[in-house]
Amino acid sequence: MFHRDTWAEVDLDAIFHNVASLRSFLPKETAIMAVVKANAYGHGDAQVAKTALEAGASHLAVAFLDEALALRQKGMHAPILVLGATRPEDVDLAAEKRIALTVFQQEWLEEAKQHHQSGLPVLFHLKMDTGMGRLGVKEEEETKRIVAMIDAYPHFLLEGVYTHFATADEINTDYFSFQYETFLRMLEWLPYRPKWVHCGNSATSLRFPTKVFNIVRFGIAMYGLSPSLAIKPYLPFTLKEAFSLHSRVVHVKRLLPGEKVSYGATYTAEQEEWVGTVPIGYADGWIRKLQNFHVLVNGEKVPIIGRICMDQLMIRLPSYVPIGTKVTLIGQQADEKITMDEVAQYLDTINYEIPCTISYRVPRIFLRNKSIMEVRNAVLDGNNV
Ligand SMILES: Cc1ncc(COP(=O)(O)O)c(C=O)c1O
Repeated sequence: MFHRDTWAEVDLDAIFHNVASLRSFLPKETAIMAVVKANAYGHGDAQVAKTALEAGASHLAVAFLDEALALRQKGMHAPILVLGATRPEDVDLAAEKRIALTVFQQEWLEEAKQHHQSGLPVLFHLKMDTGMGRLGVKEEEETKRIVAMIDAYPHFLLEGVYTHFATADEINTDYFSFQYETFLRMLEWLPYRPKWVHCGNSATSLRFPTKVFNIVRFGIAMYGLSPSLAIKPYLPFTLKEAFSLHSRVVHVKRLLPGEKVSYGATYTAEQEEWVGTVPIGYADGWIRKLQNFHVLVNGEKVPIIGRICMDQLMIRLPSYVPIGTKVTLIGQQADEKITMDEVAQYLDTINYEIPCTISYRVPRIFLRNKSIMEVRNAVLDGNNV
């Protein structure tokens, strides 16, 4: 239950479509790990996770242990991998909840061993740094020592090995190929192949489906967004955007020529103008830089005027509209659409950042209208639903 006229709609059928499409696109033996970190890129962690698992994913990935614990608390039983760093003192917590951890440092492993009291098995994925320069082992000797330490300790199990690409979403594949070759060489350092070997984010999975070993980490494209504008024209199947953002006009007034709008009084009406007040602002993630961008009202683009406030913004309306008229900030109204990419381009950033920034204060409403069979059959038939 919520009591405000601003909300985000998350179309779970779109999530299902995107994962099911990837499932039929990838080789059968390649598994899918749905990346639901950061509250599923702002979409809603458990709802997205559940939908992705129904659509053909078998694993989940998050950035931090807390995100994994939250999923367990919400009843998610699938294998979960923490992609980021975890404190060594939390290994027992991870073991108890059957959450796999990323390991990339020998000292960390030694400390984790000291903290491991439960006698429960701890699952590890070894992260190799092939050129991202973030987390990961680079040296052969350290890699070998880490694997030897894991193998020597009966409760530790090396379940996976992986790397992450820095430029998989760029047209030029030189650096991608360099990282890929480096990963192949690093795999030779291991005395055996762990159960899971992975390197594919969305861009890699969609562009190089035969280079992803046996599981992919599918994030941005699951939400219906292209990993970059550059590769958008070359995606192998249609992605459906899952996230839309809406509000309602709560006040409408007529301004006379010369009258001002919002903090700083930076906007001046040039003629008689209808102005609507919309209850969404920068505390909701609709940041001040979006001043002069537009929203949709009655299927028409109308500009945001004056400074965006913490909780409200003002729009210039072509004519009077009644209180309660729907305002769409991301999404479709009639024939007009505002895409996540358009918002991202206006803000000079990437689409990933936009739904992540829409704050906790905006309630998410989950739409799951179509039956699973209807969407699955449509995907199998190659139809767009
Ligand atoms: C290690 C790792 N793997 C996979 C992903 C998913 O990437 P994408 O959202 O581009 O699919 C991310 C996202 O940032 C990541 O950090």
